[in-house]
Amino acid sequence: MQHRAVSRVAVVGATGKMGRLACRLVEETDGFELVAELGSSSDLAELEGADIVVDFTLPQVSPRVVERAIAHGIPVVVGTSGWSGERIETVRRALGAAPAIGVLIIPNFSVGSVLATAFAALAARFYDSIEIVEAHSAGKVDSPSGTAVRTAELIGAARSELGPVAAPHTDQRARGQQVASVPVHSLRLQGVVARQSVLLGGTGEVLELRHETTSAAAYEAGILLALREVRSRRGVVVGLDSLLDLGLPVPGAPTTPAVGDAPSGQAATATSA
Ligand SMILES: NC(=O)c1ccc[n+]([C@@H]2O[C@H](COP(=O)([O-])OP(=O)(O)OC[C@H]3O[C@@H](n4cnc5c(N)ncnc54)[C@H](OP(=O)(O)O)[C@@H]3O)[C@@H](O)[C@H]2O)c1
Repeated sequence: MQHRAVSRVAVVGATGKMGRLACRLVEETDGFELVAELGSSSDLAELEGADIVVDFTLPQVSPRVVERAIAHGIPVVVGTSGWSGERIETVRRALGAAPAIGVLIIPNFSVGSVLATAFAALAARFYDSIEIVEAHSAGKVDSPSGTAVRTAELIGAARSELGPVAAPHTDQRARGQQVASVPVHSLRLQGVVARQSVLLGGTGEVLELRHETTSAAAYEAGILLALREVRSRRGVVVGLDSLLDLGLPVPGAPTTPAVGDAPSGQAATATSA
């Protein structure tokens, strides 16, 4: 399919922190034009003339945005959190066996965070005792974070032959919420942007993989990469690691071909955001 030289972008959630960042990037970058900025009082019909939809809204709003974009054959970059494996499966079904567009679901646009998640998945086979502690700003409405869910699911996938992690006493609320058997502890604190530690306990040692986002500028390169890639992808693509060559085998991570790489163009089995 021939693409216009300039991609016309609609940003949903354009009045929010991440949406404003996305709008600025689109406006500053050659090859993109900002054609619609939608907020909570907008009609989703406003996104219909765009070549790309970017979604930075709320977990309960995001599925509607994606549904609308798919209905109009518009590729979507989803940055909103709350995309569980089950939700992603719904999108995959909506796209059908031969998807005509790409839906990129990216729980974290920061390269450092994606690397930390990949390191955790690599290390997961060597430790039975694994827990995640994540911290975000007090204003974040959902928990656990999309990044924590994805990290836990990749750890679970990496350990598919070993079984669940050792997580005693999880009937007690203070032991966190289990995702793919991994206890996740969510802190919501003023002064924090985003932080995550994966703690892996072994015999006589604890390995801690810690990543901290100190400014939203950390997301810019990843958002631009997703904008550049989305029109050439087909099917559901989950995680920035699917767009980047980390140079690491990430157990359980999805790989999704670009257009023409495979007959089905369907995404692999990744899970959540
Ligand atoms: N993937 C990543 O790397 C990454 C990084 C940071 C955050 N996030 C996620 O991105 C999402 C947005 O974060 P944020 O900090 O930008 O949140 P935010 O500042 O609260 O912005 C939320 C946006 O959603 C809009 N909205 C709410 N209801 C809507 C509706 N029914 N239709 C259309 N728009 C609607 C709001 O519009 P109004 O102003 O009109 O209410 C606002 O523009 C969150 O899920 C967050 O967890 C992802």
